Amino acid sequence: MNLPTEVRYRPYADWTAEERATIAKNVASSPWHTTYHLEPKTGLLNDPNGFSFFNGKFQLFYQNWPFGAAHGLKQWVHTESEDLVHFNETGVVLLPDHAHDSHGAYSGSAYEIDDKLFLFYTGNVRDENWVRDPLQIGAWMDKEGQIEKFENVLIQQPSDVTEHFRDPQIFDYKGQFYAIVGAQSLEKSGFIKLYKAVDNNVQNWELVGDLDFGGTGSEYMIECPNLVFVDGKPVLLYSPQGLDKSELAYDNIYPNTYKVFDHFDTEAPALTGNGTLENLDYGFEAYATQGFNAPDGRALIVSWIGLPDVDYPTDRYDYQGAMSLVKELSIKDGKLYQTPVAAMETLRQTTETLTSKSATNNIYELEFTVPANTTADLMLFADEAGNGLRLTVDTENGKVILDRSACGKQYATDFGTSRDCDIETAETSIRLFADKSVVEIFVNGGEKVFTSRVFPTENQTGLVVPKGITGTYYELG
Ligand code: FRU
Repeated sequence: MNLPTEVRYRPYADWTAEERATIAKNVASSPWHTTYHLEPKTGLLNDPNGFSFFNGKFQLFYQNWPFGAAHGLKQWVHTESEDLVHFNETGVVLLPDHAHDSHGAYSGSAYEIDDKLFLFYTGNVRDENWVRDPLQIGAWMDKEGQIEKFENVLIQQPSDVTEHFRDPQIFDYKGQFYAIVGAQSLEKSGFIKLYKAVDNNVQNWELVGDLDFGGTGSEYMIECPNLVFVDGKPVLLYSPQGLDKSELAYDNIYPNTYKVFDHFDTEAPALTGNGTLENLDYGFEAYATQGFNAPDGRALIVSWIGLPDVDYPTDRYDYQGAMSLVKELSIKDGKLYQTPVAAMETLRQTTETLTSKSATNNIYELEFTVPANTTADLMLFADEAGNGLRLTVDTENGKVILDRSACGKQYATDFGTSRDCDIETAETSIRLFADKSVVEIFVNGGEKVFTSRVFPTENQTGLVVPKGITGTYYELG
């Protein structure tokens, strides 16, 4: 939603209790609230931040402007989870309340160090002429949720980057802390800078160099770069804005991509070996995905179900955005797979044979198989007139297609109303999660993933399953 700058950057303290209550009431009146996907209490949720493990629990913050569905003065909102399925807001927030983050506590990462959680993030600072100074800054969060910001700037804007320099991700590689930061060159192409903590002290960072990851040159900014290790292989997840479609086909306003490499050369510095550019997600919205290696080694990722510069049907209810399920990464036969964490099964309330249903509560999981040489058309969020969200699994021509043109409130139609991906022409398995206004579809065990919003009308609650499809329906709760 377009709101004037004065509104979006109005100091938090100036918002009255009455205004806050009006916003909260409006949010509560939306028909589209998710049930097991994290949403903002109020306002806009964008990137996942500080995804980490600390104090015996998983930590996940989200970028938020709390006063409406717009990108304004951002804060981080803290949640924690024991099972990676239920995330509870704790009330802790990283506020834009310091000279070094005066115009927003922008995205970043976190890592447990000596009984405290180190938060590494971008301070968005603007001067009176609205000229931006992007600062990479830090804070400690203790076990009580007290936040203490560092007084020193950890990384200043280098002379070879524009104002687009943000989203530091800290990671440990062979006992040494490194950080990668998304950047834009003076020639306006996106790249990544690699830093290392001197003597492993996170108060002191030095530049290693520009990380060679085989960028195409067409992307004008790399947002939210993340390096995780899956079975020893470095996997780079990133959001390359402006990527030329001749490099990789995509339909969303901005893509979220990945590359699986063989080696991380910390001296060059470079990611080498393999490195084919791939879409992380084939749905209508998944962006700014953040990942980290948990203490047990698992590479866990979570995505913003939303996109920058897109208006949503929920905007009139003063909120926007949701967080995806947490997915675990694995590599099989050189391919990256994304699988919802095992604890998702604890949400299953009923187990039934999959058949058509005239009405559901739109909160369910499906598991089914489509035989080879078949075109199966399922209709989710279906109404009696036969409209709904159409999922086509065509194992004869090797395609999965998601078409939302006949489901509920339409938006972002300039970017098309269907999404698809190629699959093998063979029996295909689907695991699908529906949650009121979110669908997440995992094809062939997570080899391809579709993450999307959908905003059905009140009567779009049916499920149409064609003959010949066998599977299971679980009501979730
Ligand atoms: C990505 C992003 C980040 C930035 C944050 C600000 O969606 O633009 O690059 O840090 O959002 O909210």
